[in-house]
Amino acid sequence: MAFRTLDDLDLSGRRVLVRVDINVPVQGGRVSDDSRIRATVPTLRDILARGGKPVLLAHFGRPGGHVVAELSLAVTLPALAAALGGTVRFATDCIGAGAEAAAAALPAGEVLVCENTRFHPGEESNDPAFAAALARLGQVYVNDAFSAAHRAHASTTGLARLLPAAAGRLMQAELKALAAALSDPARPVIAVIGGAKVSTKLALLGNLIDRVDQIVIGGAMANTFLAAQGIDVGKSLCERDLAPATREIMARAEAASCELVLPRDVVVARALEAGALSAVVAADACPPDAMILDLGPASVADIAVRFGQAKTLVWNGPLGAFEIEPFNAGTDAAALAAADLTEAGRLLSVAGGGDTVAALNASGAAARFSYVSTAGGAFLEWLEGKTLPGVAALEAAS
Ligand code: 3PG
Repeated sequence: MAFRTLDDLDLSGRRVLVRVDINVPVQGGRVSDDSRIRATVPTLRDILARGGKPVLLAHFGRPGGHVVAELSLAVTLPALAAALGGTVRFATDCIGAGAEAAAAALPAGEVLVCENTRFHPGEESNDPAFAAALARLGQVYVNDAFSAAHRAHASTTGLARLLPAAAGRLMQAELKALAAALSDPARPVIAVIGGAKVSTKLALLGNLIDRVDQIVIGGAMANTFLAAQGIDVGKSLCERDLAPATREIMARAEAASCELVLPRDVVVARALEAGALSAVVAADACPPDAMILDLGPASVADIAVRFGQAKTLVWNGPLGAFEIEPFNAGTDAAALAAADLTEAGRLLSVAGGGDTVAALNASGAAARFSYVSTAGGAFLEWLEGKTLPGVAALEAAS
């Protein structure tokens, strides 16, 4: 993977268009999780230290090409200023005379955030005229939005053709961690793939089978695998229509010598409610009127042994209904086992995608993993082996 970085560009006195991903959760008019905002800070500080003037481009939500007041990036400004410890200005549009004037007037040492790029249809259609209008705001382009790199939009790809382009520090860190986990990993490699639906993870499993030594299947996905083997999973969430596709994955895994690890025991209950009466049973002994909601202790112990024998771990998705206690226990215990091995220097652990970070944060394990990606969909597409357009554009521009 070859692309330029901040080290390769002369930034002194130049306006630097920085594509960041500050698509963060908001509750009651305030940012409720500023992880993605904090993750942009090393790049912004680096640009400022090199005498550059950061002009930030970002999307927020999915406004569909027109102005939606509730999706204004203005809501992110206090959190960004706090994380940066500096002054943050705002331009109420990302193109046009007002934005150009705000960029031109930006003093050294300050940061300008431009309004949601997705307020314009040209962003998602990657319209060259829209990209050219964005390019007028800066002299250099830095893409630091790995988590939006699966989108071929004007601000994630089009700009790389118009200005000298480089990866930001977060983009670099994400790509380095992901390469260490899958492109050139220390073996054995174990993957943990959880979540509700096999249907959303078929491509991902198909790619991983050829790249890793074992795949632990967890969450409701595991029910689909058990059912495909003829096991009665009672009232569990299960995609019965996917039995043929699931059996094909199992056959392919066997041919590729990739071991699929299914639950040995499971936690079952008759209701998905906090504190519901639950029991541990063998994976093939779910009562007909109950649901499988978590891994049992024997499954967790088995996974912990496997982690201990691995050198690299890639984790995507929760192993049970982690949002509701006590069905978080399996995910928490397995994550803490991985965190302990990571801290002991015995395991490189990389996690990301969708619910994963929330699931690993809940146990405190996330902070002790080697790397936790800021990306949701981009992490999944990377696990699927797809080329991410935002990364490809940086490579093409190098
Ligand atoms: C994300 O939240 O995963 C990224 O910001 C991309 O958002 P999108 O799925 O709306 O393109």
